[in-house]
Amino acid sequence: MTATHGRCSRKKSRLVNNTIPLDARIYVAGHRGLVGSAICRRLADEGYHNVLTVSRSELDLRDPATVDAWFAGNRPEYVLHAAGTVGGIEANRTLPADFLHDNLLMQATVLQAAWRHGTTKLLYLGSSCIYPRDCPQPMHEDHLLSGPLEPTNEAYAVAKLAGVKACQAYRRQHGCHFISALPTNVYGPGDNYDPGSSHVAAALIRKFHEAKLSDSKEVVIWGTGKAKREFLYVEDLASACLFLLNHYDEEQTINVGTGRDVTIRQFAEQVASVVYPAARIVFDPTKPDGPPRKLLDVGRLHALGWKHTTSLADGLRATYAWYVQQEAIG
Ligand SMILES: NC(=O)c1ccc[n+]([C@@H]2O[C@H](COP(=O)([O-])OP(=O)(O)OC[C@H]3O[C@@H](n4cnc5c(N)ncnc54)[C@H](OP(=O)(O)O)[C@@H]3O)[C@@H](O)[C@H]2O)c1
Repeated sequence: MTATHGRCSRKKSRLVNNTIPLDARIYVAGHRGLVGSAICRRLADEGYHNVLTVSRSELDLRDPATVDAWFAGNRPEYVLHAAGTVGGIEANRTLPADFLHDNLLMQATVLQAAWRHGTTKLLYLGSSCIYPRDCPQPMHEDHLLSGPLEPTNEAYAVAKLAGVKACQAYRRQHGCHFISALPTNVYGPGDNYDPGSSHVAAALIRKFHEAKLSDSKEVVIWGTGKAKREFLYVEDLASACLFLLNHYDEEQTINVGTGRDVTIRQFAEQVASVVYPAARIVFDPTKPDGPPRKLLDVGRLHALGWKHTTSLADGLRATYAWYVQQEAIG
């Protein structure tokens, strides 16, 4: 069957070095989240004044008919897809069906509506967790689908892989300028600090902060502290997203990270130095470390001309300042 009702731009040429007009209608899906809110700040800073956002209560992205009607009414020219059901190890372990169901639906509805209503370009955010569990390090885009996934977040990873593949499929079948990117671990203002569902950076900031408030000297951290991880400040990710929307139009997904990693011990020491320098860090080796290393190869992104600018120390300071302010507001 031939699809006849889509309106994707069928321009053969790639949309690169394409300066998006400041009055373009740009829809940020997930604008209240960690990544989406940073993208909105970045767009505002750069002078974009026609940014479209809509709350989840008005537009549940899992509902195809509502999403289609919203796109028909608002006709976004550019879409940054930063909506998703996300969480740490525990949430992934206990809610795999939700992670799979919600993310598959959210990306399917948005991509379909963007195609049907003529969106010029769309950026979908995947995740570095879609690389194989035993991936060679650093992880290059060519390593995708070369081995089994990490079992602790398999459902989420399968959904995110489907999102990356969906962008490729719309490009091939309909000529859509849909691209995807794979960010590494992100941290920053607006993160989720709930101990039941937070990621490692937010969890440690909260842990050290609470230890400081209760004047307890010892802070216990899961694992041996030897595993290595890469962390990207969310404002840098927002900058990379706009850069890619302007300068990248390839079928292959692209890694977004710093290209540098630290041990969890080094990371915890950095957090302690910002939040609670008097803390004594104790590791609990009976708890799992997860994979020993997860570092992105960012060679392709660097070759395009984008590099992160925020050091871990500066990013953590800014994040903690925001966290303290939120605590004060209540
Ligand atoms: N955080 C990371 O370390 C990281 C790393 C790599 C990739 N990513 C990717 O980046 C994207 C955003 O992640 P994040 O950390 O910013 O997540 P987040 O803070 O949890 O934000 C997710 C956003 O999605 C919205 N959303 C969730 N379900 C929705 C629904 N049914 N309908 C409409 N909106 C819905 C949320 O709306 P509400 O505000 O109403 O809840 C929220 O604004 C995800 O695709 C994730 O895979 C994140």
